[in-house]
This record gives sequence, structure tokens and C-alpha cells, in this order.
Amino acid sequence: MPTSLSDSCRPYDSDSIHQRLNSSLSRPQLNKDGHLRHFLGVEGLNKSQLQTIIAKAETFFDEQGQLINSPELEGCTVMNLFFEPSTRTRTTFEVAEKRLGANVLNIDIARSSTKKGESLRDTLWNLQAMTADIFVVRHSASGAAHFMATEVTPDIAIINGGDGWHAHPTQGMLDMLTIHREAPRPFEELSVAIIGDIKHSRVARSDISALQTLGVTDIRVIAPRTLLPKGIERYGVTVFEDINEGVKDCDVIMGLRIQNERIGSPLLATSSEYYKHYGITPERVALAKPDALVMHPGPMNRGVEIASSVADGAQSVILKQVNNGIAIRMAVLSLAMQGQREYQLARRQTQTQNNPQTGV
Ligand code: CP
Repeated sequence: MPTSLSDSCRPYDSDSIHQRLNSSLSRPQLNKDGHLRHFLGVEGLNKSQLQTIIAKAETFFDEQGQLINSPELEGCTVMNLFFEPSTRTRTTFEVAEKRLGANVLNIDIARSSTKKGESLRDTLWNLQAMTADIFVVRHSASGAAHFMATEVTPDIAIINGGDGWHAHPTQGMLDMLTIHREAPRPFEELSVAIIGDIKHSRVARSDISALQTLGVTDIRVIAPRTLLPKGIERYGVTVFEDINEGVKDCDVIMGLRIQNERIGSPLLATSSEYYKHYGITPERVALAKPDALVMHPGPMNRGVEIASSVADGAQSVILKQVNNGIAIRMAVLSLAMQGQREYQLARRQTQTQNNPQTGV
């Protein structure tokens, strides 16, 4: 577990990030009843906890499949802190927060005093002095959301909007909601192929963990060796370097973006070589089951990871993923706020038992 942000900024081997954070993630994000009070990662959550998030998200659709408003966060203040660029995550969080009736503040990190050298800890402490109930954070450092959960006062919920290579849990859960809603078979019967830059992808880590917890046994990762983390087989996935073999008869094809900003030295020949060997083309989609779903978390590099005709084609659910992201983010915000309220109640009861005179 990182003890300071500078610790968590060190370049890690991706496996060690996973191992170090996994062991400590489940407890801090749950209250004593096993309900979320932060949402830091899907690792450590059990099947029933993931199903609760999916079921809650489903309540935000009407019978026609349209999103509804539900003022469950009325009176709550949510601050969005995005230290890294984002289109989908930042905007769908804001839409979700407004649909829940929260007061929403988007902190402009590019113009904040972090640019004058203020530390993350000081930024947090100043923002919490302005009174907030939830911080949604995206940061380039693996462990940043976990670090924040240990730094803020215990009545603020932290929601991880993506931390370094480590985790992107709301993306993982919106992918699960999309599969739940769109796939013709239950999780236990699915074969899922994840193609691309697994090594640098926080989405891949959250997806693999959530798929396994929800009962998927056939998870295939397809990439050149240079884009696979060391020892990936230990996570119960099957590795394919040949995409044509890997996608054969699968039910879900998930593309991943080449994370150029996290690739230190050249790991690929050229974009056209990559597309030739690993691009998701119509011919390769035809090798999967006829009703296979095509997914991609975005942003997409068309003509590198995926052909435009596939991204925009009949089997693509890529824009449904974005829409489902609003429901999942509404669910996570609402559940975390509820878990915080339960946690605060339990704390007050303990304090009253310890000191019945003053209640402190
Ligand atoms: N999928 C995803 O995280 O996209 P953004 O970087 O645009 O938020």
C-alpha cells in the first residue's frame, strides 16, 4: 500500500502493483456490513457485491431502457478531481451526479495550485475544508485513490475514476453491465477475448477481475508478448499471441487502446504492423460466434486497434458502454453514500457506548 503519493508514483512492475494493492483494497472500501463506502477497485469484492452494483444500476433505467433521474444525493456535494485527461469518465460522472441531484464541482486541476507545487494531500485537505461528501478521482499514479481514502476525513467517500495502471473499477463495472444487458448467455457460459495492451491497461485488470468474480471461466488475452504483464497466466487467463486463434468462437471481443502515454520505450513495430497482426477486423470478428459483442472502453485508435467498420458495425456495443457508464456511476455514487451513512451511524454508536456522558 502506498504511504505517500511519491511512493505510489514510482514506476512499478504491473504485477507488483496488482499484488500490493489487491491485498489491502477490499477492507478500506467496505463498511462493517460489507457495503461499499468507497469504490477503489473491484478486486476483493465478491459476486454478490458486484451483482448489487449491477442491480442498482438497472434501477436507473425505465421500461423503455431510458435513464431516469433519482434524487438520492440531494444535499450532497461531489467534487470531481481529474488529474489526467478524460472524456467519457469525467462527463458520465458529472451526468450521473446531476441525475442523482448532487451539488457538483469540477475542480480545474490544470488551473489549480497543484501547478504551483501543492501536494495531493494539501489539495485534498483544502477541498475537504470546503465540505464535500464524495471525491471522484482520476490520477496517473497507481494507488492514488487508495492513498486518498486513507488521507481524507472518514466521512468522505472516494470513488476511483482510474489510477495509473492499477484499476478502473467503474469502467470494469460498466463493461459488466453491458455484457449483462446485451450478451445472449449468462456470465458462466461466456468466452471473453481481451485484445491489445494488457500490460499498461487498468481497464484490463478491472475487467479480468470482475469477469472472474461473476463466473466467466474462459478469459483469453490476446497480445504480443511485449504488451503482456509478466506472469499473466497466474490470473487464470489463457494467453494467445495469434488473434485468429484467440477470437475463435468467443462471445465477447474487447479491444483495448495502446496506452502510448504509459509505454516508456518502443514495444511495437508500427501502427500498421500492429493492425495487421492484432487489429479487430471484420474477418476476425467473423471467427467469433455470430452474435458476439464487440466492446472497447475508448478512446479508440481507429485503424490501429479496430477497424472503423467494426467499431460502428451491428455487433458493436461501444456507445452502449458509454450510456451504461452513467447508470453504473449513479449506482456506485449512491451505494457509496449509503455505505458512508451506515459507517457514520456505527461510528457514532460506538462513540456513545464508549462515552455515554458526552457521546465522544
Ligand atoms: N474509458 C475511459 O476511461 O475513457 P476516458 O479516458 O475518456 O474517461
